[in-house]
Amino acid sequence: MSIVTCSGSRPIVVCGQYERLLEEAAAVMENGLSPASITANLETHFVGQRVVYYPSLTSTMDVARRETEQGAAEGTVVIADEQTAGKGRLKRIWLSPRGNIALSIILYPSLVYLPSLIMLASLAVVHSIEAVTGLKSVIKWPNDVLINGRKVCGILVESEVKGGRVDYALIGIGVNVNLRLSDFPETAPMATSLSDELGREVSCIDVTRRLLVEVERLYLVLPSGESIYEEWRDRLVTLGRRVRVSLGKTTYEGIAESVAEDGSLLLRRPDGSLTKIVAGDVTLRDYM
Ligand code: BTN
Repeated sequence: MSIVTCSGSRPIVVCGQYERLLEEAAAVMENGLSPASITANLETHFVGQRVVYYPSLTSTMDVARRETEQGAAEGTVVIADEQTAGKGRLKRIWLSPRGNIALSIILYPSLVYLPSLIMLASLAVVHSIEAVTGLKSVIKWPNDVLINGRKVCGILVESEVKGGRVDYALIGIGVNVNLRLSDFPETAPMATSLSDELGREVSCIDVTRRLLVEVERLYLVLPSGESIYEEWRDRLVTLGRRVRVSLGKTTYEGIAESVAEDGSLLLRRPDGSLTKIVAGDVTLRDYM
């Protein structure tokens, strides 16, 4: 086990044998999130066995990318109490105040598994939320997790492919765990949090630990040939619905008929044609 914490902006590396140091480091962490609390007896082989923790950083994606440049081990998790420049899909801002989960997981998959990362990440979130809180959630294509029609989690997958090989892939996951929507009235109509759904605080540590176990389990399923595509497809609230898909200035409307195994959305247009959409922002028309 290798744990990196940081004091101010200077990371401190703490390895397994320095348990006392680890406990001291854990004691100063805010938010109850500490590397030790995440990795202690974590039932994974590699995901979360190395944790890089910051009380505050710009974006876990940026720090994770820097970690890959220094040869970070597969499964390294970069986690922060707070992000000051959290990144969403389609160049949006992701709000990351304390009390919520903001993490990135470093993976080095084969190229063939790259499209599955979005699927496995959203499934891992759905499974973890249900395991820890009992709340049922669904996936809105491509990878938003919703509870009662509102977004509780966003996922961002970034990767670098060079010469037909994946240099690295980063799964960024932001979960609204204890976000008080009343503090963010502008997002309140579209967003929710686990605590708002349950009417009580939820442990970020419990959700994080379960999430890491689920991510590893599903990641290890990929080479076995067992597909996670079917479960992801079946959990999509989008299919069969009237949707509007926007990407930049382009908008498509139609019925979300299906998804392909590469994760793209197959949209039946009013003129009967089928359009394959690889990225975009979906609005469920009957939720409006
Ligand atoms: C979205 O729904 O637009 C995706 C949001 C992804 C947010 C997470 S929080 C952890 C990681 N770091 C970031 O800056 N973004 C992702």
